[in-house]
Amino acid sequence: MPAFTATAPGKIILFGEHAVVYGQPAIAVPVFEVRARAVVSAGIRLEPGTIRIQAPEIRLEADLARLPSDQPIAAALTGVLQTLAISRPPACVLRIDSTIPIASGLGSGAAVTVAVIRAFSAFLGRPLPLEQVSMLAYEVEKIHHGTPSGIDNTVIAYAMPVTYQRRVHPGGSFDPVLETFPIPEPFEIVIGDTGIRSPTAAAVRSVRAGWQAEPERYNRLFDSVGEIVRSARAAIDAGRVESLGPLMDRNHRLLQEIGVSCPELDRLVEAARAGGALGAKLCGGGLGGNMIALAPPGKSENISSALRYAGAVRTIRTTIQ
Ligand code: PMV
Repeated sequence: MPAFTATAPGKIILFGEHAVVYGQPAIAVPVFEVRARAVVSAGIRLEPGTIRIQAPEIRLEADLARLPSDQPIAAALTGVLQTLAISRPPACVLRIDSTIPIASGLGSGAAVTVAVIRAFSAFLGRPLPLEQVSMLAYEVEKIHHGTPSGIDNTVIAYAMPVTYQRRVHPGGSFDPVLETFPIPEPFEIVIGDTGIRSPTAAAVRSVRAGWQAEPERYNRLFDSVGEIVRSARAAIDAGRVESLGPLMDRNHRLLQEIGVSCPELDRLVEAARAGGALGAKLCGGGLGGNMIALAPPGKSENISSALRYAGAVRTIRTTIQ
């Protein structure tokens, strides 16, 4: 039996994080410079039905049967087996590696999950369609995040730019409304990592506490973010790439007011602007993790150096296309 390999990219949220949890649209794009990879091969020497998981980067080597059901990799595998109604899978080994930094807003958890679901369902001879991969990954995201909007699993499963919105129903359930779209005019983004690991769930919880304490103020902030997202999407569609810069700056100011920036993120955002960026903002959950800057043509090297000088532990240059 051959080995089945699947990879999944990292992602950045260009506009709209946090407000997306409250029903506003957001725009996310894949980042192919980093990726998670899952390889499933037959477990020739294993007992029938054994699924061995090897993820050296998180020092995990265990059989599925021994992992708690809420362990994210176990949940992804079990989700596939349930979806396909397979109770006795052939023995296999799942090996996972990833170059996506953990807990820093680049979607590492969702990318591992998507790669695992795709490789495992292919190994079982029934590769799942994208929509189902994304839905299963959403269930696993709930373990990572608590109340995820669904944007991470969507952009990573589809591996395309996406505008995402959740249409929330009165009882709390929601329909994901997603649209993948082309980028008529490519643009360069520099990603800067503060080096501060910041679990998204904690940032999402702190925003919820703020929203519960001051619902009207937070709803106004979320509405303003939504307007920026709509303007940004119109600018991308029209190829007016430079106008994304000021929109990023405004989005960052709103995220500061929402309470998810921190001095290290603000310092990198300012350094990027001083280094020639057209605009910059924090990216993802915030309170650490990564920021992004829009680079005019030929400037990304300068911006990257400015970010490192200001304390970024890593920079990634990516072309959005
Ligand atoms: O930290 P990340 O990149 O996984 O960002 C999550 C984005 C939030 O809007 C903060 C949460 C969500 O579920 O959409």
